[in-house]
Amino acid sequence: MKQTCDIPVWDLPTRLFHWLLVLLVAGAWFSYKFGDVNMTWHKWNGYAVLTLLLFRLAWGIVGSSTARFGDFVKGPFTVLRYLRDGARAPSLGHNPAGGWSVLAMLTVLGVQAGAGLFTSDDILVSGPLNFLVSSASADVLSSIHRLGYYVLLGLVALHLAALVFHRLAHGENLVRAMITGRKHPDHVPPGAAAVLRPLWLAALCLVLAALAVWLGINAWAW
Ligand code: HEM
Ligand code: HEM
Repeated sequence: MKQTCDIPVWDLPTRLFHWLLVLLVAGAWFSYKFGDVNMTWHKWNGYAVLTLLLFRLAWGIVGSSTARFGDFVKGPFTVLRYLRDGARAPSLGHNPAGGWSVLAMLTVLGVQAGAGLFTSDDILVSGPLNFLVSSASADVLSSIHRLGYYVLLGLVALHLAALVFHRLAHGENLVRAMITGRKHPDHVPPGAAAVLRPLWLAALCLVLAALAVWLGINAWAW
């Protein structure tokens, strides 16, 4: 019998993570352009990004099935086969190519926000851990922080292009799924559905992530 009900794909924590991340990446630029001279807002925005990323790392290990790295990071042959076949094979969560683009975005964001902790503009502002590195290293990390944003924007452009491609070529509305958490059965392998983990586990991961960021920034002063 053909299924008609939409299939659960993305849990609430993964969806909240995604849309908050989008807001914070935009916030990083706004706070740099329009924030105060000490970049207080930009720094808090950056700590929030770091917290989200650590949360996502933990959720990628203990979270719902489609959020797990082990579920969506596939080997090169699977990715090549998927692309060779016109990227049309339905997948429950991230498709084999998308999995790598997710990993790339998370890595670049991690490097970007991590480097931010050590940056300095050599005049007014510096990251909270700038005092831990030599001025030559701080220069390198500041350059990484400046350039990293453009690399990230490039990856995001690719990300959006892939979403448009799926919509136009296969009629699949991935954005709707990232909002509602559900996909139409036509776009999911037969019988597949996400195994969701409880919200308290996500809340615990978030608290631990925030604690790790707080310790990472403050423990050096003790
Ligand atoms: C994903 C997170 C982040 C993004 C996207 C981001 C983005 C940016 C951008 C676009 C600039 C302007 C660079 C330029 O001069 O052209 C900047 C500067 C700066 N950011 Fe961030 N940032 C992030 C996280 C952080 C964090 C966590 C900190 C430290 C707590 C930080 C501290 C700084 C500082 C001190 C500057 C000015 C110094 C400089 O120009 O090198 N940022 N950031
Ligand atoms: C700053 C901009 C953005 C960044 C950094 C970003 C990053 C990400 C990341 C890291 C994921 C993986 C989610 C996870 O597994 O945790 C993802 C997935 C996704 N994003 Fe974005 N995103 C951005 C903008 C957008 C926008 C503007 C849209 C919609 C218009 C969008 C739609 C989606 C969708 C639909 C998925 C799921 C894709 C799939 O089914 O495999 N993203 N994005």
